[in-house]
Amino acid sequence: MTSSDGRPGFPDGFLWGVATAAYQVEGAVEEDGRGRSVWDTFAHTEGRVRDGDTGDVACDHYHRWPEDVRLLSELGVGAYRFSIAWPRVQPTGSGAPNPAGLAFYDRLVDALLAAGITPCPTLFHWDLPQALEDTGGWLARDTAQRFAEYAGHTATALGDRVPMWITLNEPFVHATMGYALGLHAPGRALLAGAFPATHHLLLGHGMAVGALRAASRPDTLVGITNNLAPAIPATESAADVTAARRLDGLHNRTYTDPVLLGRYPTGLDELYGGVDLSAIRDGDEAVIGARLDFLGVNYYFPNTIRAGGEGSPLGLELVPRTDVPQTAFGWPVVPDGLTDLLVGLRDRYGPALPPVYITENGAAYADAPDTDGRVSDPDRIDFLDRHLTALRAAMDAGVDVRGYFVWSLLDNFEWTEGYSKRFGLVYVDYPTQRRIPKASYNWYRRLVSRTAR
Ligand code: FCB
Repeated sequence: MTSSDGRPGFPDGFLWGVATAAYQVEGAVEEDGRGRSVWDTFAHTEGRVRDGDTGDVACDHYHRWPEDVRLLSELGVGAYRFSIAWPRVQPTGSGAPNPAGLAFYDRLVDALLAAGITPCPTLFHWDLPQALEDTGGWLARDTAQRFAEYAGHTATALGDRVPMWITLNEPFVHATMGYALGLHAPGRALLAGAFPATHHLLLGHGMAVGALRAASRPDTLVGITNNLAPAIPATESAADVTAARRLDGLHNRTYTDPVLLGRYPTGLDELYGGVDLSAIRDGDEAVIGARLDFLGVNYYFPNTIRAGGEGSPLGLELVPRTDVPQTAFGWPVVPDGLTDLLVGLRDRYGPALPPVYITENGAAYADAPDTDGRVSDPDRIDFLDRHLTALRAAMDAGVDVRGYFVWSLLDNFEWTEGYSKRFGLVYVDYPTQRRIPKASYNWYRRLVSRTAR
C-alpha cells in the first residue's frame, strides 16, 4: 500500500499519536498535594542527572496543557499517550485518592475528547511515590498490590471516558536501570538481585489489568508497553549466538512471555545466573498473564552482542555500530530492526500476540531555532519516515499493528540526560517555555491527514 508520493500508506482507522510522560513534561511538582516521587529524589541528588537538571518545571505542562492540547489538535493526531503521576493521585502511594491530583487528569481527558483525540494514559512511567520506595519500592511484593489499588482509583475517576489504558511503561528499563544498575531512580545497583523488582512490576501489571477492567467500560482496551529490541549476534560464532540469545531472554522474553503466555521463559534461573527466584509464588504467573487487548512496543534500536570477556557479569558485551548513522544520543539508526522485531514477535507468540501499537519511536537531534526562529530537523523526518516504511513492511508481512506514537510531542526532561536531548516534534525554549513546532511537526501533520480516521 503506497500513496502517490511514494510514502507508505496506512489502513483507515490506523491510530496516529504522540507520547509524553508525567515527570518529563509536567513540572509543578509541589502543586495540588502532589507527593514526592523517586525521580524528584534522584534528580535532586548531586551527580545523578546531567547539569543538575530536574523535572521541577520541565515543560510546565501542568499549567500550559491547554496550549499543548491545541498543538495536538492542530497536529491532527487521533490519540495522545501521556502518563498519570501516581504521586498526584496518591501522594504517599496508598490510601484515599487526592481529588486535586485526579482533577488535573480529569480536565485533560475532557479537553482531549472535546478535540476528538483519544486519551491513552499510562499508569506508571517510573515515578513511584517516594513513600513506597522507602518501604522497599518494587522489591517489595506489597507495591504490586498498591499499584492495583492506584489503578482502581484512577479508573474509577476516569474509566468512563478513557478507551485505552497502559499499565506500565518499559518494566525492563525500570528494573534494569533503576534497581540493577542504579543509573535511574531509585538508584539501586543490585545487579541480578534486582529480580524481585522485575517480578513485582509484572505482578502489579497483572493485578492492575483486573482493577482497570472492573472500573472501566466493557469495550475498554488494556495493554502494557514494553521496550523491545532485537538482540543480534555480532558473528555467527556459537559463543556470540548464545550471548545474544541470553540478552534476548533478559530484555525481551522475560517481560513479554509472562504477559502473553502466562509463564516466564524456560531456563529463567540460568538466564539470571542462579539468582534467587523465590519472589515468584504459585499462581503469580497466571495473574501476570491476564488477557490483554494489545501489546505496546517501544522501539529505538537493536542491540548487537558478542560473548563477553572477563569482567562482564552476564558474559556478554554490546558492540557499537559504526556502519550506520547515529542520533544525538549515540543510538544507531536501524529502521529494519523494527520490521525484524515485529515479525519476530508474530513468529514467537503466534495467536497469543494481541494487536500491537508502537507506543514510542523517535530520535534526539541537536535542534535549534534559526535566525528566523524556525526549527528545521531533516534528520528526524528521515528517521521517522524510514521507521514508518519498516513498520509498513511488518504489516505487509501480516503483523497486526493498529497504531504508532512518536516520542515525543515536546522536547522534555530526558531522565539522566536532563534537557540536553531533544526528542520533540515541538521545540521547547525552556527559559520562556515558548513552543515552536519543528519541520517534523508539519511533516507528521501532513502524513496523519492522509489516513482516514
Ligand atoms: C524511553 C522512555 C521515554 C523516553 C524515551 C527516549 O525509554 O520510555 O520516557 O525517555 O526512551
